[in-house]
Amino acid sequence: MAAPQSSGSIPPSIADAYDPERFRRDGHALIDALADQLAAATGRDEAPVLALGDPTAARAAWAFDPAASPVALVDTLTAAAAGAIRLHHPRYLGHQVPPPIPGAALGDLVSALCNNGMSVYEMGPTAMPIEFAVIDWMAQAVGLPSTATGVLTSGGSVGNLTALLAARQARAGWDVWGAGDPGGPPLAVLCSSQVHYSIARALRIMGWGADGAIAVPVDDRFRLDPAALPAALERARALGRRVIAVVASAGATATGAFDPLLAIGDFCAAHGLWLHVDGAHGAALAISKHRALVDGLARADSIVWDAHKMLAMPALCTAVLFREPGRAYEAFAQEASYLFEGARPDAEWWNLGLRTLECTKRMMALKLYACLRAYGPGLFTDYVERTVALGAALAARLAATDDFELATPPDANIVCYRWRPRGAPAPGPALDAFTAQLRRRAVADGRFYILQTRLGAGLWLRSALMNPLTEDRDLDELLDHVRALGADLVTE
Ligand SMILES: Cc1ncc(COP(=O)(O)O)c(C=O)c1O
Repeated sequence: MAAPQSSGSIPPSIADAYDPERFRRDGHALIDALADQLAAATGRDEAPVLALGDPTAARAAWAFDPAASPVALVDTLTAAAAGAIRLHHPRYLGHQVPPPIPGAALGDLVSALCNNGMSVYEMGPTAMPIEFAVIDWMAQAVGLPSTATGVLTSGGSVGNLTALLAARQARAGWDVWGAGDPGGPPLAVLCSSQVHYSIARALRIMGWGADGAIAVPVDDRFRLDPAALPAALERARALGRRVIAVVASAGATATGAFDPLLAIGDFCAAHGLWLHVDGAHGAALAISKHRALVDGLARADSIVWDAHKMLAMPALCTAVLFREPGRAYEAFAQEASYLFEGARPDAEWWNLGLRTLECTKRMMALKLYACLRAYGPGLFTDYVERTVALGAALAARLAATDDFELATPPDANIVCYRWRPRGAPAPGPALDAFTAQLRRRAVADGRFYILQTRLGAGLWLRSALMNPLTEDRDLDELLDHVRALGADLVTE
């Protein structure tokens, strides 16, 4: 009998790439180099927070040349980190992306190495229970009943889509999953103009079009005005839409405004509407002394909460929480027989893939779980309170000057402001152009990282205070920095 076909021997390239000793050496060298970079950033070195080159040149510089001689793994990795925007630098005052707790990054390393896809328990024997531990902690933190449950998704945008799909399945009045959308009248949600754009995207993905979101006016601090909800409901009806939910923001993206959840919850209860709270940014205030801002969160049917925002985790780690446990299966009611047994989904509650769009996903709970166990929940309370205190401190500094203007007093740690010294243009397109030029100069300079946003008719500078290592001296310097950047733009 002929010998069975052989697979041959393992190529040296494979043996080398998988060599545990090589991994050990590379790992130690990498951590040493990253720790040095971290020390420089947190020690507020004088290098820019952001050194942004021309995008075409950057692309050319990083293009991969298959003919080039090999570059050590650690050299490429440290170079990529060295050229990154440095979130750990105290002068990083930009997007709602935190400088991650360094220990949490080690959690992601373990996730990457184990690669436990975890749609099914068998592929994540530790990942699954750890995900539930994190979900349970988060659900309890926002005051949901002990039966509440959920799932982790790769980001708040996927989280909002997941929650809205569940809301549709629960409240449409027909089986949308089975019959499709034409099974009934066109649907809609009520929400303010300040909701994150992922809400409008989710509604359009569901096929509801532009009228799927019926706008509810905001008050002078950009919070949804609950008194305007009945008229919005009427408007939806006049458009032939059946409203099934209200989407509220607990920390709207632009200004960080918190919608009044208790009043919105009353309205939802009175009209049989699903309440979805996008707490991607601000649900974390529930674990702080500022929890009054999220009063009513516990009444939500679904909540999205990004741990990669106000829990200082590396991206991504989003909880989608459902008050009623069965709702966790409504977003994706599909059966995949090669994965799941095909019984009632809750008979396989341990197979988390039944609850998410994602099939493969990271062990994203691990980093948060490990940090909770290592540092205790108090670290996260301190993080939230520190960053909110920084928001208040920046706002107070701006308000105390005659040349800066605050768009609105911040609810938490997102501050919108503009520089209006004597000689600056009056509000309108000229002031917007002036503000945009300041922001362009700030980015080119790189000493601080700040943003801009459009609020109502005007353009404003915007800072999310996400770095707990920022101090008052940085805030003082920011104001002087903006003045210096714009000095030659002002005509006395
Ligand atoms: C309020 C709000 N919801 C949702 C999102 C989207 O989250 P992600 O970036 O994790 O997709 C953001 C992002 O900034 C946000 O501010």
